[in-house]
Amino acid sequence: MAYGARLESVLGESPRGFESPILRAVNWKWVAPMTVVTPRDSQAIRDLVHVVRPARIIEFGSWQGRSALSFLIEASKFNPLSRITCVDTWLGSPEHWDPHNTDVEWGHQNLLLEDGEPQFFSTFKAAVESNGFSERVDIVRAPTSFAGGYLVANYPDTDLIYIDADHSARAVKADISVARRISSGG
Ligand SMILES: C[S@@+](CC[C@H](N)C(=O)[O-])C[C@H]1O[C@@H](n2cnc3c(N)ncnc32)[C@H](O)[C@@H]1O
Repeated sequence: MAYGARLESVLGESPRGFESPILRAVNWKWVAPMTVVTPRDSQAIRDLVHVVRPARIIEFGSWQGRSALSFLIEASKFNPLSRITCVDTWLGSPEHWDPHNTDVEWGHQNLLLEDGEPQFFSTFKAAVESNGFSERVDIVRAPTSFAGGYLVANYPDTDLIYIDADHSARAVKADISVARRISSGG
């Protein structure tokens, strides 16, 4: 069964009148409001971008693309050619796999498992495409700990690195050291 049809069979038909370009883009009629990916309403992102005015951003942890969209929308105000590199395994974080987590956005159901493998990368791609940003997003589909050398070599001109992958102290410390390597050129 096609992926969209399978989701429909699990989650039902669209409420009358509900239409979304994002759902259309991935051939879903209706999954849940959370999958209609809107930019993240974040004053912190706005402030960061307005101060740094970055041409090149790296994001560790992109999930469904909400913060990446916000970064590009804000950065476009200063530089219409600004770009973001999204580094994510698209396998989820510990909270997504926590059976006691009841949070709607970070819940296990949003991993969209197929044969046990998360499929929410499609949600991310559809969000980027439907907002017209495909040409300005580079995808690095790897653990942040693997990607350091690649990012140092390929993105020496990065202006802003946003860390929002695994939130454990150990992982955040490791991500900060990868970010330092990128910003110092090695
Ligand atoms: C909190 S979500 C990111 C949310 C996103 N920045 C936003 O605001 O919309 C964390 C993301 O980090 C990814 N992730 C977790 N650990 C990772 C790791 N070690 N390397 C790469 N990605 C990771 C998960 O797959 C998930 O998509």
